[in-house]
Amino acid sequence: MKSKAMKAAGWAAAVGWSLCASLALAQEVDTTKGIEEYRRMIQDGNPADLLAMEGDEIWTTSYGPKQQSLAQCDLGLGPGVVKGAYARLPRYFADTARVQDLESRLMTCMQTLQGVDPEKIVKEDFLKGERLRVAKLVAYVVTESQGETIAVDTAHPKMQEMYELGRRMFFYRAGPMDFSCASCHGADNQRIRLQDLPNLTKQKGAAAGWGSWPAYRVSASQFWTMQHRLWDCFRQQRLAEPIYGSDATVALSVYMAVNANGGEMMTPGIKR
Ligand code: HEC
Repeated sequence: MKSKAMKAAGWAAAVGWSLCASLALAQEVDTTKGIEEYRRMIQDGNPADLLAMEGDEIWTTSYGPKQQSLAQCDLGLGPGVVKGAYARLPRYFADTARVQDLESRLMTCMQTLQGVDPEKIVKEDFLKGERLRVAKLVAYVVTESQGETIAVDTAHPKMQEMYELGRRMFFYRAGPMDFSCASCHGADNQRIRLQDLPNLTKQKGAAAGWGSWPAYRVSASQFWTMQHRLWDCFRQQRLAEPIYGSDATVALSVYMAVNANGGEMMTPGIKR
């Protein structure tokens, strides 16, 4: 039989525990409210707008060994057409015979028009040097698709191949935790700490997730492209760093973008 003292200690511990739990809950509710309020406040002015302005300037300024601007860059809707282009990416490009996302396509344009070596961008760190230039260009291009309907064309066989590859990668479990993307993004109403995790396997969640990236991250005071977002999720999955602009990253984007078809492009997004 338990002694009175032990019972009392157990009871005190139980009360302490539930007090802790309810305090934590109250705090979480408070924080969630706070975050909602803060999200509402930050919608008004997205610092990504400043980067988009810089990107616009970069687009039209001569640069690189060839001293050319990107004004003739073809993002899929013809040379120089930026409006609406991002809502239709990734897509198959005949000139490179590849399916490309925005970043890899910009690297192609920078190489062919300006003579900038793509390897340099691949090896660079995020938010540094040429890769930062790409991020600013991304901010500009995605702003020009704000409010457009996500309309990724899957007719080309290479697109279907990439979708299938992306789907398999999304569900492929790997790393020390045996996680797949689907472990964190394959069910409704999942959260990690206070972050809502959209179900990227369904249209609604994919539209919310894909449609709100690239985004400005207030917590980091940084603008992140989708390549950057994916890099961070590989890290969350405890996988090796993905190669910037590689087919693996593009395939994952194809999978998410096609699932998001019909949704609204809310780019650039703004995140905590
Ligand atoms: C261990 C859990 C985990 C895994 C595995 C994971 N992610 Fe994430 N992902 C997160 C978290 C947490 C966030 C939100 C990050 C934040 O807001 O700081 C996120 C955010 C995202 C977003 C943006 C969603 C939005 O609405 O803002 C996308 C897209 C995404 N992840 C894709 C992927 C892909 C693709 C993979 C597989 C390569 C993957 N994630 C693997 C945890 C994970």
